[in-house]
Amino acid sequence: MLDLACGKGAVSVRLAKELCCKVKGIDILSEFIDFAEKKAKEYGVENLCEFQVGDINESVRIEKDYDVVILGAAGDVLGNPEETIKKLKGTVKKGGYIFIDDAYGKDNSDGKYLTRQQWLMVFQNTGVELVDEKFIEDEELSNINEEQQGFILMRANELKEKYPEKAYLFESYIRSQQAECNELENEISGVTLLLKVIS
Ligand SMILES: C[S@@+](CC[C@H](N)C(=O)[O-])C[C@H]1O[C@@H](n2cnc3c(N)ncnc32)[C@H](O)[C@@H]1O
Repeated sequence: MLDLACGKGAVSVRLAKELCCKVKGIDILSEFIDFAEKKAKEYGVENLCEFQVGDINESVRIEKDYDVVILGAAGDVLGNPEETIKKLKGTVKKGGYIFIDDAYGKDNSDGKYLTRQQWLMVFQNTGVELVDEKFIEDEELSNINEEQQGFILMRANELKEKYPEKAYLFESYIRSQQAECNELENEISGVTLLLKVIS
C-alpha cells in the first residue's frame, strides 16, 4: 500500500499492524516522517513500513504498481478531484484500489465543492468505480471539531505567551481553523471514498 501525505504515519502503522501488509508512507515534513518511523518501531512493524520525506506531486510520477493507494485528508495537494484521481490511478495496478478522504458539497456550498453527482461524473471520466463511501456523522464531526479546536486554542495561547510579538499569527490561525470547522459542519459532507481502478 502507498500512503501519500501520510503525516505522522497513524494510518500506515495501523494498516501494517492489522493486515500485516507492506506500506510505504510519504510526507513532506521530515519531523512527521521521523515520528512515523518511531511509531512503526513501537508497534513492531518497522519491517513492514517504509517512510520517506517527499513531495507527493513527485511521488505520483515515480511510485507504481501498488495494490492500494491512500490519500487521507490532504485536500487539493494533487489538484482538483479529476486531476487527483488521475494521478493516484498511475500509482496502482489495474483492479487496484484508491482511498480518498474528501467531501461532497451540499447545495449551499456555492459550487466551491463538487456535489456527489459531480463526483460520480468524475469517477466515470477517470475510469474508476465507486465501491463504497463512508460519511462522517454530524454529531461525530462536531464532537471532533470541538475537541480539536479546544487543543488548538490551548496551544495557541501557550505560543502567544511565549512569542507575544507573533500573537496576531496565532489569532489568525485560530480564526482560520474555526472557519474550517464551520465549513465542514455546514457546507460539506466529509466522506471517505473507496474506488476501484477499472480501466
Ligand atoms: C491533515 S494531514 C493528514 C495526514 C494523514 N494522511 C492522516 O490522514 O492522518 C495532511 C498532511 O499532508 C502533508 N502534505 C501537504 N502537502 C504535501 C506534499 N506536497 N507532499 C507531501 N505531503 C504533503 C502534510 O505535511 C500533512 O502531514
